[in-house]
Amino acid sequence: EGRVRVSSAKNAVLPIIAGTLLASTPSKLLEIPNLEDVGTICQVIESLGVKITRNKADDEIIFDASTLTATEAPYELVRKMRASFLVMGPLLARKGEAKISMPGGCAIGARPIDLHLKAFEALGAKIEITEDYVYAHAPEGLKGTQIYLDFPSVGATENVIMAASMAEGKTVIENAAEEPEIVDLATFLNAMGANIRGAGTNVIRIEGVPQLHGAIHTVIPDRIEAGTYLIAAAMAGGDVFVENALPEHLKPVVAKLKEAGVTVEEEIDGIRVISTGKGIKAVDIKTLPYPGFPTDMQAQFMAFTTIAEGTSTVTETVFENRFMHCKELNKMGADTQVISNHICKVNGVEKLHAAKTTCPDLRGGAALILAALVGEGQSEINNIYHVERGYENIEGVLNNLGADMTKI
Ligand code: EPZ
Repeated sequence: EGRVRVSSAKNAVLPIIAGTLLASTPSKLLEIPNLEDVGTICQVIESLGVKITRNKADDEIIFDASTLTATEAPYELVRKMRASFLVMGPLLARKGEAKISMPGGCAIGARPIDLHLKAFEALGAKIEITEDYVYAHAPEGLKGTQIYLDFPSVGATENVIMAASMAEGKTVIENAAEEPEIVDLATFLNAMGANIRGAGTNVIRIEGVPQLHGAIHTVIPDRIEAGTYLIAAAMAGGDVFVENALPEHLKPVVAKLKEAGVTVEEEIDGIRVISTGKGIKAVDIKTLPYPGFPTDMQAQFMAFTTIAEGTSTVTETVFENRFMHCKELNKMGADTQVISNHICKVNGVEKLHAAKTTCPDLRGGAALILAALVGEGQSEINNIYHVERGYENIEGVLNNLGADMTKI
């Protein structure tokens, strides 16, 4: 019961912080969430020479990238967070070279960077790959060109937009990712003096400019965090209003909650869920690049279907190994059956029971917390550091809504 306000979107903050590398004068970002991953990307750009000043409230950060002193991202930081690879585009644009350790895959899949590298080569960069480093350099600078992404990769689209923002001439990206986080990055870069058109569609046009200046920016709200709390209310029952949840960023999730029989009210300034937690109907979901159902909501929505009446089919088309939460949910009495890397059947059960479980990854961990909210008894969830990478104070937020969670 009650109201919750979500933080700024992790997946917008990370590329935007990487984008501050492009400016020759300071930028200021407001309402930055206090997350592990934000700390990591800040360490990466500090190691490149960016001066970072946090205000006392700590949610306003100034990034001064007027002088960059290095073009190599430290191995141990890239290993910790693959999104560090997003500094390659800005470094190529600003310094004409970058050396970054090959980002490992992670729990949810191999997550190669071939589309990033192919696009950088098209822009005129030379790429060398040693055993575990990628070295890119463009001695004559980057030249605008036509780029077609074989898959609408979010990271590749972001890296290419940043590289092309200071390339010579025009770049057109076709089959670009359309996520709201891409739009927010383009908004920030345009405020810095870039010339980017079409972000949010699958064709993005960039006119390179010789220099970018700092800008002030407030990042969009986190649609995945918002969606997670909407599902918490739908499963546990109650009346929850998620402030600053933008309905247009959550259309597929809202549509599926309504299809399952949940009352969802979309307001101008947020989304409200009213639910008894009973009589949930089974629904099928299929994850797709935006504007399709978000892969980052797949695990949370699966937790919701475990207590639905009937069988739901969950199809994951974006990542090849994003069902590791299934066996953990089954420990709590759920009946999920992984048919293949991409299909899982969920036979709804009357109720879940408490169990000792382990978070397999960020969104899988969030799914276990949602299941534990409705599982009878006290559950124990291990490795919650995964969850803390993407959710600021999740136990405080949920306890304010009536949950009973204690971080050990
Ligand atoms: C971003 O990852 C998000 N992370 C992910 O959120 C999100 O799941 C993903 O986009 C899809 O929406 C950040 O923004 C920091 P992709 P990214 O490149 O950019 C394949 C979370 O939970 N691919 O769109 O790495 C790749 O293997 C995280 O917050 C290539 O084959 O995602 C994957 O199967 C998890 N070659 C698919 O594309 C490439 O060069 C989507 O990857 C790049 C990607």
